[in-house]
Amino acid sequence: MTVVGPFGLSVRDQALEADLQAGLAAVEEGLLEITKSDVPFITDAAQHLVRAGGKRFRPLLVTLAAQFGDPHAPGVVPAAVVVELTHLATLYHDDVMDQADVRRGVASANANWDNSVAVLTGDFLFARASHILADLGPAAVLIQAEAFERLVTGQILETAGPRDGRDPIDHYLDVLAGKTGSLIAVAGRFGAMMSGADESVVDILTQYSERLGIAFQLADDVLDITSESRESGKTPGTDLREGVATLPVLHLRAQAQASGSPEDLELCALLDSDLAGDDEKLAEVLRRLRVHPALELARRETVRYAAEARAMLDPLPECAAKSALQELCDAVVHRAG
Ligand code: IPE
Ligand code: IPE
Ligand code: MG
Ligand code: MG
Repeated sequence: MTVVGPFGLSVRDQALEADLQAGLAAVEEGLLEITKSDVPFITDAAQHLVRAGGKRFRPLLVTLAAQFGDPHAPGVVPAAVVVELTHLATLYHDDVMDQADVRRGVASANANWDNSVAVLTGDFLFARASHILADLGPAAVLIQAEAFERLVTGQILETAGPRDGRDPIDHYLDVLAGKTGSLIAVAGRFGAMMSGADESVVDILTQYSERLGIAFQLADDVLDITSESRESGKTPGTDLREGVATLPVLHLRAQAQASGSPEDLELCALLDSDLAGDDEKLAEVLRRLRVHPALELARRETVRYAAEARAMLDPLPECAAKSALQELCDAVVHRAG
C-alpha cells in the first residue's frame, strides 16, 4: 500500500499508484511551463503561488476520474493543468476580494505586490488556461465557460448576500455550489471525458465531483474557524473578519434568534461589529465559536454532503479508482488544512 497525493490516499493497486504519481508529476511540469512569460516579472508573479504548493486536489480528481477510460489519453494531463490554473487564478482574485494576506503559507500576491498585480496575474493565468483549452476542443471550451460563469456568479452572490425573503442558508449553499462546486465538477468531468469513459460514467463523476466540491468548501469554512495557520496556510478567521457568513455562523444566528439566548445574541453582535480592526475581538469570537454547538451542526452537514457524494459512486464498477474516490470523501471532510 502506498500513500498518494495531498490527502494521503491509501492506494493498494500498483498500476493506479503509478498513474497517479506520473499524472501529478506531469501536471507540475505543465504548470511551471504554462506560467512562463517573456516578461520575467509576470513569470515571478504567476509562479509565486504555483511554487508555494497547494493540495492539487483538482488535478488529483481529474487523474482519478480518467481511470474509467484510458488514463493515458493525451487530453488528461492538459485538462488537469487547465483546472488547476483556473483554480489558481481564482485564488489570486479571491485574496483581493477577501483582503487575505496569506495563501499557501506565503504572502498572497496582493500582499506581496498589490491588488493590481494580483488581479492582472489572475487574468494572465485565465488567458493561459484558454490556450490549453483551445487544443482540447470546443466541447471543453464550452464546459469551462459555463463553469466559470457559475463560479463568478457564486463569488458575486456571496458578496451581494441573499435577496429579500431568501433563506440565508439556502443562499449560502447556492453560493458554494457556484463558487466551488462548479470547477470541481469540471475536474471529474474532464478526467472522465478526456479518457473516453462512457457518457453515463461521465455524468456520474460530474455529479459526484460537484457534491464533493460542496463538501470540500463546507469543510474549508469550518477550518476557517478551527484551523491554525500553519496547517491551512491561510489566516484563520478571514471569513469572519470579512463578514462572510458561513454555515457555522448562519446556524449560530438561527439558533440565537430561536432561543433568544443572551450569550448567543452577544456573540452575534460581536460578529456584526468591525472585526477587521480588532485582533483581540476576532480571537475572542474564534474562541467562542470553536466550542459552540452551531459548529458541530455545520460539521455534521459537511459529513452528510460527503456521504451523498460517496453514494453517487455506487453504480460504478468496483475498481481501485472507485475505492480511492470513496476514500476521498472522508479525506476531504477530515483534513486539517
Ligand atoms: C481553496 O482551495 C479555495 C476553496 C475552494 C476552499 P484549496 O483548498 O483547494 O486550495 P489549495 O489549492 O490547496 O491552495
Ligand atoms: C474560495 O473562496 C472560492 C474561490 C476561490 C472561487 P473562499 O474565500 O471561501 O476560499 P479561501 O478560504 O480564501 O481559500
Ligand atoms: Mg478567500
Ligand atoms: Mg472568498
